[in-house]
Amino acid sequence: MHESIVFEKELADEAKRLYVNLKHLEYSMNECLMFAPLTLKINKLKKEKNAVILAHNYQRPEILFGIADFTGDSFALSKNAMETNADIILFCGVKFMAETAKILNPEKKVLIPSLEAGCSLADEITAQDVKNLRSKYPNLPVITYINTPADVKAESDVICTSANALKVIEAMKEDEVIFVPDMFMARNLQNQTKKKIHYWNGKCIVHEQFTPEQVTEYKNQFPEMKVLAHLECMPEVIALSDLAGGTSDMYNYIKNSDAEKFMLVTECGMSDLLRARFPEKQFINPCSVCPYMKKIHLDNTLVSLEEEKFEITVEKEIAEKAKKALDRMIEIGK
Ligand code: 13P
Ligand code: SF4
Repeated sequence: MHESIVFEKELADEAKRLYVNLKHLEYSMNECLMFAPLTLKINKLKKEKNAVILAHNYQRPEILFGIADFTGDSFALSKNAMETNADIILFCGVKFMAETAKILNPEKKVLIPSLEAGCSLADEITAQDVKNLRSKYPNLPVITYINTPADVKAESDVICTSANALKVIEAMKEDEVIFVPDMFMARNLQNQTKKKIHYWNGKCIVHEQFTPEQVTEYKNQFPEMKVLAHLECMPEVIALSDLAGGTSDMYNYIKNSDAEKFMLVTECGMSDLLRARFPEKQFINPCSVCPYMKKIHLDNTLVSLEEEKFEITVEKEIAEKAKKALDRMIEIGK
C-alpha cells in the first residue's frame, strides 16, 4: 500500500479511538481528526524516549483520553511518579505537581508542557511565612497542602492532599496543628476533627467562586441530585454538599452511587472527565475553569516531549527536605 494511504488509515483509526470517549463531550469526528496527528506523534515519541505521561483530572479531554498513561488526583499521581520505570516523566498538570514528581524522582527528567502552568493557591505562601508560623506556634507540626512550591514543602513536617488531609491531621500526636495554605480547606477540616487547626489565609481562585446561593438554586431545581464539592470550596458550600473531598473522592462516589444526577462543585475538567467515563449519568455543571491547568494542550505537550524542553528542576537541599515531608504523607496514606 502507498505510504500516504497507510498514514491516512492510521489517522482515521486514531480519530476513531479518540471519538469513543470524546463523543460524550460533544466533540465531532472532525475535531478528533484534528487531534489525531498530534496524539499519534506524542504516543510514538513516548515509546521512543521511554517517557510516561501523567495527567491531572482537570486536564483537557484530548490529553486525558488521547495521550495520558495515568490520570488521577494529586495523591495518585505522586504515587504513579514514584513507581514509574520511565526515563522521562511528562507532567500534564500544574507546576507544583511536576515539582513533586521531580522531588520523588531526582534522577529522572521531569518536563511540563508550559512553565506558566502555576497555581494561585501555591502562590499565596512563602517558605518565610512558614518559618514565621513556626515561631508563632512553636512545637506544632506544619501540615502543608500539596498545592505549594518545593521550598514551602521543605519547611513542612508533612504534606497532604485533598484525598488524605483529615487522615494526616489525625495521625499527628499533637492536639493542635498548623495547616497551610488553604483557608477554606482548613476550616472544612476543622469541622471534622477535634484537633485545633491554626491556618493560613490562602484561597484557590477557581473554588472560591462557588457560593451557597448558587448551590441552593440548583438544589431547588434538581432536588434529587447529589452535590459533590471540592474541599477547597468555602464551608457554606460544603454544608450543602453530599460529599466534601478531592477529585478522586468524587470519582469513587459516582462509581459507587445509584443516583443519576450529580452536581460537581469544582473545576470544569472534572465534569468533562466524568461525563465521558459515566455517560449514563447526568451532570449539572456550574463549573469554573482553572486558567493554569488549561495552559497545557497537545501542541505544547508535543514540543516539550520532542525537544525535551521546559524541564523542572529543584535545588538538591530543598528537594531532600521536601521529600521527607512527602514520604511521611505517603507512609500515612498507605
Ligand atoms: P485533587 O488533588 O483533589 O485532584 O485537587 C488538586 C487541585 O488542584 C484542586 O484544585
Ligand atoms: Fe491551583 Fe485552584 Fe487551579 Fe487547583 S484549581 S491548580 S488549586 S488554581
